[in-house]
Amino acid sequence: MFFSLPEKILLAAAMAAAAYGFWMRFGKVLARIRAAKPDADFSLDPIAKRVWDFIWEVMLQAKVIRERPLPGLAHAFVFWGFCVFGLITLNHFATGFGWPFLNNWFGEAYEVFAEYFGILVSIGITGLFIRRFFVRPKWLGELSIESGFIALLILTLMLTYIGGFLFGGKIYWWAHTIALLAFLPLIPHTKHLHLVISPVTVFLSRGSFSHIPPLVGDEDFGLDTGKDLTKIVALQAYSCVECGRCSEHCPAFNTHKILDPKKIALGVRGYLNENGPRSDQPLLGPFISQEAAFQCTTCGSCEYQCPVGIEHLPIIIGLRRGAVNTGKWEDDYGTKLFLALERNGNALGFSSAERDKFIQKQEFPIFDGTQEYCLWLGCMGGYDPQGREIIASFATVMKHLGTTFGVLKKERCTGDPARRLGNDLVFQQLAEQNLEALKQAKVAKIVSICPHCVRTISTDWKDYGEAPPIEHHSEFMARYVDKLPRQNGAKVVFHDPCYLGRYRGSYEQPRTVAALAGEVVDPARARERSFCCGAGGGLAFLGEEKGDRVSHTRAKELAATGASVVGAACPFCNTMFRDALAAVSDAPPKLLDIAQIAAAAIQK
Ligand code: HEM
Ligand code: SF4
Ligand code: SF4
Repeated sequence: MFFSLPEKILLAAAMAAAAYGFWMRFGKVLARIRAAKPDADFSLDPIAKRVWDFIWEVMLQAKVIRERPLPGLAHAFVFWGFCVFGLITLNHFATGFGWPFLNNWFGEAYEVFAEYFGILVSIGITGLFIRRFFVRPKWLGELSIESGFIALLILTLMLTYIGGFLFGGKIYWWAHTIALLAFLPLIPHTKHLHLVISPVTVFLSRGSFSHIPPLVGDEDFGLDTGKDLTKIVALQAYSCVECGRCSEHCPAFNTHKILDPKKIALGVRGYLNENGPRSDQPLLGPFISQEAAFQCTTCGSCEYQCPVGIEHLPIIIGLRRGAVNTGKWEDDYGTKLFLALERNGNALGFSSAERDKFIQKQEFPIFDGTQEYCLWLGCMGGYDPQGREIIASFATVMKHLGTTFGVLKKERCTGDPARRLGNDLVFQQLAEQNLEALKQAKVAKIVSICPHCVRTISTDWKDYGEAPPIEHHSEFMARYVDKLPRQNGAKVVFHDPCYLGRYRGSYEQPRTVAALAGEVVDPARARERSFCCGAGGGLAFLGEEKGDRVSHTRAKELAATGASVVGAACPFCNTMFRDALAAVSDAPPKLLDIAQIAAAAIQK
């Protein structure tokens, strides 16, 4: 194909205008991200994991496909097609200036290959268009003209390439050029910015689930104003593609609370657009609601689901820290909880003498260094009647197995609710006091019935010292399941606690133990997609919920399986479902912790 000088000049001018249009917005976004505060504890290590996540999540589009197979596959073809078309596009512009480089045998074969990909991209983008404009799942939000226009542009890009390939001629060439040059400046002005920055976001993620970064220095209170927004938070905010996957799985959003995790990411973006990253304006205000930030159960579904690497929990917990550490959060329940933690060392506000009485009644030995395990009671196991039953059952199982254990003379709350609600001072006090008590008692191994205690001790305490290894009782019992008697006969629906499943990846162990009672079935949403009970993130202590109750929504799903037993593996889930099951069913299934299931067969 021959191009005259005026054509070349026109092409060069159009390319420069498109590049300018792209940079006008992209340059601003980049400047905002770069001007944000550095992430104190960020490290590229382990680099191999980052490379693997990049290959898996970006190149192979595994997460995009896994969680929404059909639209995910349609998107993957669009993405792979764009990768294939990279070389074609370079050659396309080079041709315009008289320097084609794909005019050899390789080029011819590559163009045929690209043509087939062009067909797949056309099918993929048409599918995404139909989904957005005709199927209209509510998670995608309002109808978006911008999305429709981009879809048509991508389709035009493909059809003009295929037309040019089949029939040749300058008309197709120029039509393809116009579509390309119209597309380029639109990218940074729309959510399609994700196609440039989401690969970087995935690569630069924090590397561990629900990572809460340490506060640096006396002036760091969490995410209070724009000055506290870090580069990673800013990068993530600009990556959101508004797919609504986080909203679809969020227990708060599903029960008509104000909180929508998508709006947390978009709220930070709105703030950055308006105020920039060095602003003194509070983050909680017109762009992000304080009430929403405190409706989060920290279940982690949003972070687990997000296909472009957005980590919601460091943001949400960061915002809570900003509000609590600076005294901007005023909540009677919250104040009562923090006082109870400070004064009594437990979240339920009881005197520690109550725990002593329970230990004596159960004849639990005090840990003296001769026993194998320190049995961690936790607030629920030490003070809550149902939690105490679970502890007693688990002690029966340990005794049956001949495992020696003792309990700490003085044990305080791990600080989980303070940590998730953003009270760093109270959390630090509790973590340090407990770490010291464990050190004094020379504890080598801990076992706990509570996934929240397990997470907090194994991960969150690291900011203040090294705790002995801890495991969840499901993991302990699963190891010895062959030595435990079976009862069989029951149909047990197992509810995956968020902090055991998504946070810890223990899915099989509790099921192995629950199977001691009979057949184990999954509710509609299970394992990685398990729906929260509503208690996490300190919410168990914050009084009445607005909207529907998360626990009722989940209890309905559990009861709908027709199981005779609900198997739980967290004392918080247990306390939530106790009333919820009775409220949603006339003949509710029996609610049992897996330790109670195991102990029932022993005691028979
Ligand atoms: C050249 C690269 C890419 C192109 C051309 C592209 C194009 C698109 C288009 C056209 C949409 C539809 C938007 C709408 O309907 O409003 C979309 C959505 C989406 N993109 Fe991309 N994208 C690219 C890269 C990526 C990457 C690297 C990821 C993830 C790592 C990603 C994740 C998503 C997700 C999750 C959606 C929402 C659709 C869904 O929920 O299935 N994209 N993209
Ligand atoms: S952690 Fe759970 S409750 Fe909180 S925003 Fe995410 S999905 Fe919603
Ligand atoms: S935060 Fe992630 S999951 Fe949620 S809408 Fe944005 S891209 Fe989708």
